[in-house]
Amino acid sequence: MAIYEVTGGNRLHGEVTISGAKNAAVAILPAAILVGGKCRVENVPDISDVRILIDILRSMGVGITQPEPNVVELDSSELTQLEAPAELVRKMRASYYLMGALLSRYHKAKVALPGGCNFASRPIDQHLKGFRLLGAQVEETEEYVNLTEGEFGLCGNRISLDVVSVGATVNIMMAATLLPGQTVIENAAKEPHIVDLANFLNTMGARITGAGTDTVKIRGVERLQGGTYTIIPDQIEAGTYLAAVAAAGGDVLVKNVIPKHMECITSKLAEMGARITNFDDAIRIQSTGKLHDTTVKTRPYPGFPTDMQAQICVCMTLAKGVSKLTESVYETRFFGYCTELQNMGADIIINGKTAIVTGQEKLRGAEVSAKDLRAGAALIIAGLAAEGITRVRNIHFVERGYENIIEKMTSIGADIRRIEE
Ligand code: EPU
Repeated sequence: MAIYEVTGGNRLHGEVTISGAKNAAVAILPAAILVGGKCRVENVPDISDVRILIDILRSMGVGITQPEPNVVELDSSELTQLEAPAELVRKMRASYYLMGALLSRYHKAKVALPGGCNFASRPIDQHLKGFRLLGAQVEETEEYVNLTEGEFGLCGNRISLDVVSVGATVNIMMAATLLPGQTVIENAAKEPHIVDLANFLNTMGARITGAGTDTVKIRGVERLQGGTYTIIPDQIEAGTYLAAVAAAGGDVLVKNVIPKHMECITSKLAEMGARITNFDDAIRIQSTGKLHDTTVKTRPYPGFPTDMQAQICVCMTLAKGVSKLTESVYETRFFGYCTELQNMGADIIINGKTAIVTGQEKLRGAEVSAKDLRAGAALIIAGLAAEGITRVRNIHFVERGYENIIEKMTSIGADIRRIEE
């Protein structure tokens, strides 16, 4: 079993280049099913979630080549298998996007319920509500979702989401792309990867407007054509490196980012005392000494992302004063890493949705275990900032979402190794 061994104490210096966005890639690759032909996707991160998705699509008959690193060419002219192997589907969350893509193109889908990071109960009722309103008949068992064309056929409709959901917005956008009529999604999620998926689909010939606002309109088209698309940089990967520098100290240029997407994160780090300089497609972060306490409440975009909760919490454990961190998307997410940080000397008291974090002079290295992807990233950051050695277990979670994390961290001076135990 591989683990990460992190020796803390090094300040971080130099440049790091951010990869393509995981949560855009895991939507865009299944969306290639809608293309019904060839498309080329660039800036695809080489992470295990993407590799699983490629295996899933291949098993369904999508022709896939990877002519160069981070480029995936897909040919979805003819799918030979409409049902993906359940054992692969259950390995990741985003496999549920097969539902929207298959429903739109084939008017039916049978997909095993997804897996992924189970840091909270993660219902899909809003996805299914959307499919029903588009005219699908939905049968849900404990293991599968089976979608068929309802008695009145499939066509566009107005769908108001009861909760702002990234997954439901993506799935409904995909499902509506090839259906007749117009679909309007109200209370839609506005994350950058929603806009990226809409841009991908529009490049392929879809007619989607309003992505990035809370009302997305999809005017169905009969077919898409092929094309080439480049995935946006990963906002959360970039935020993770920024938080690492804030916590461990140093001066790093984080390259290949869209600074606008980062404002919710950089404004908090600046408030805590880091010096932030924005360039066109890069952000420089310089630590200035001691961090200060702050208040953070996670929210859907453009609010502070829940996927940065754990990383900012590490910064709070080292900030002077008492910080308040409130989670409003996934209440149970604190349990993925707070106990581990407490073992490293952090002072965190969890009270329902809020963690009260009293900053300490130092953290100390410990044996810790990642319970999900972002928890794992946070434990690496804590290890970099701590005195002594931290061994992080369950690193398969981290490798789902961070491309070459060891190489990238090492290139900016971190002492981190992947070792087989
Ligand atoms: N929700 C429902 N019903 C639904 C869907 C969602 O009640 O049908 C609730 C969820 O329980 C949650 C909230 O709505 O409280 C938001 O969930 P959302 O659907 O937006 O999350 P998701 O699509 O399952 C994506 C990312 C997550 C990220 C969340 C929130 C992907 C593949 N995953 O999940 O990313 O935490 O949005 O931004 O895009 C990660 O990258 O580490 C990760 C977990």
